[in-house]
Amino acid sequence: MILLDNVYKTYSAGNTAVDGISLRIAKGEFVFVVGPSGSGKTTLFKLLLKELEPTSGAIYMNNQNIRRLKKSKIPKMRRGIGVVFQDFRLLKDRTVYENIAFAERVVGKSAKYIKKSVPQLLETVGLSDKGDSFPDELSGGEQQRVALARALANNPPVILADEPTGNLDPDNAWTIMQLLDEINKRGTTVIVVTHNHEIVDRMHKRVIAMEQGVITNDTAENKPIDPAILSKISDMDVLPDDITGEEDLGVTMVEAGTLRRLNLSKYEDVLDTIAKVTDSDTDVIDYGITDGIGAPSSQNGSSDDAALSQEQDANDQEGGDA
Ligand SMILES: Nc1ncnc2c1ncn2[C@@H]1O[C@H](COP(=O)(O)OP(=O)(O)O)[C@@H](O)[C@H]1O
Ligand SMILES: [Mg+2]
Repeated sequence: MILLDNVYKTYSAGNTAVDGISLRIAKGEFVFVVGPSGSGKTTLFKLLLKELEPTSGAIYMNNQNIRRLKKSKIPKMRRGIGVVFQDFRLLKDRTVYENIAFAERVVGKSAKYIKKSVPQLLETVGLSDKGDSFPDELSGGEQQRVALARALANNPPVILADEPTGNLDPDNAWTIMQLLDEINKRGTTVIVVTHNHEIVDRMHKRVIAMEQGVITNDTAENKPIDPAILSKISDMDVLPDDITGEEDLGVTMVEAGTLRRLNLSKYEDVLDTIAKVTDSDTDVIDYGITDGIGAPSSQNGSSDDAALSQEQDANDQEGGDA
């Protein structure tokens, strides 16, 4: 699970690329991130990869604040995230096979493991017959499939793809997206930055729209939680009482039809309780809650503005890097 809690990133030039983002992505989700050039999408990815540190706010991966990771643990954290770029970034002087094998070798996989794994990965991306080719001998679409196989090499629970179809024609773009969809269906969390609206519209996934460093829309946020779950939750005494007006909070929550303010990691235990009471498997309930929360929607006066500002007060009291 990935959680961003009020994250800001200002570059040294004084350029604020990420301007207060709170976001929860459940394990196994498929998420598109869209937005104009310069809106902060790549910065967001770099923050997730810990290539950059937030100026303030916190990022959690599986409940671990990644700022607090020991240096020695960072490579392992990064190995848990497969990355795909617009420009493929393959090693030009190595074969397709070697490009993938290399990714496994650097993390210490055995020759025996590699020999078994690389052909499987090539099969996944439909390139079983291209192992001996060099990147220059492949089409763009094929090169991106190799890059995808390489990203999958160490079985990462998360794939980040930054405009993976930006250099591809529509057919190849669609093939890549379908592969990402298949990978997601096997349980991998997939986050894709794209400008390809046709594909986004066609795939019916969660879409997070960014502009100037903020989230301007998150389709998950607009989807109400299953009413059956909501009615069970509304009877429960699980809401944190250290924010403000705990009963109001519960009522507001139900009236608003969302669990918007539970997007802080400290409410993990609340999610667990909800899962138990509603007899849901944690992933399902987790997803349901993700359906209801997300970053605060932009300023337009929604009915739960009051609740939202309570949440922000709570954030302020936490003092940023909790
Ligand atoms: N290394 C950097 N130093 C200073 N400003 C940067 C740097 N990288 C990106 N920016 C700026 O941050 C903003 C967001 O950039 P980026 O995250 O690359 O956006 P996107 O991927 O959505 O196009 C832009 O205004 C960009 O100019
Ligand atoms: Mg970018």
